Amino acid sequence: MRIFIDTANLQHIQEAHQLGIIAGVTTNPSLVAKENVSFHDRLKEIAALGFESVSGEVIALDAKGMIEEGRELAALAPNITVKLPMTPAGMEACSTLTKEGIKTNVTLIFSANQALLAARAGATYVSPFIGRLDDIGQNGVELIEEIATIFAIHDIDTQIIAASIRHPQHFTQAALAGAHIATTPYNVIQQLFNHPLTTAGIEQFVKDWEGRTF
Ligand code: E4P
Repeated sequence: MRIFIDTANLQHIQEAHQLGIIAGVTTNPSLVAKENVSFHDRLKEIAALGFESVSGEVIALDAKGMIEEGRELAALAPNITVKLPMTPAGMEACSTLTKEGIKTNVTLIFSANQALLAARAGATYVSPFIGRLDDIGQNGVELIEEIATIFAIHDIDTQIIAASIRHPQHFTQAALAGAHIATTPYNVIQQLFNHPLTTAGIEQFVKDWEGRTF
């Protein structure tokens, strides 16, 4: 499972990028709105860091508007992926943009059927939202398993981005369930490093080294 970071915050993206563990970035309108910057400028800044994929989401709700916005976003940098909502209009835009060679990420996936529709529209990525399903008492990780199984049975090469990850358990479970990618918030990436035995082990090594007698 590869790791994307789910934020539009440039400082957090740069810090995570320096660690050498991040392959891509996902943003959404809510994340960009928090930053109070030009959407296109921010996408260009992120894309310039050289990730395999930087998802920017369209705002239009009709197919024509999504296609126009998608083309504009894709023209910003070669590694931009156009994020489209899971609606009939979104699928029309997805198939049109895919035929033009533009990478797409279909977002707001909450069922296996939606993921299959998006794959058939040519989506490069689908983004099932684990946390938001858990919030309404459904099992988000089971959805990842279902989609991974269906894609394997039918030899579908659309990649699954486990999204709406809220804590390290989601990250582990997404990997076990067969997600190709987990798009992970900055705070959860930080949590992934932590283990009390690692901290205690380092402290002990330092103590023993400093107490050496030769
Ligand atoms: C995915 O691409 C979305 O940006 C994101 O994972 C949504 O997560 P949330 O449910 O925490 O807002």
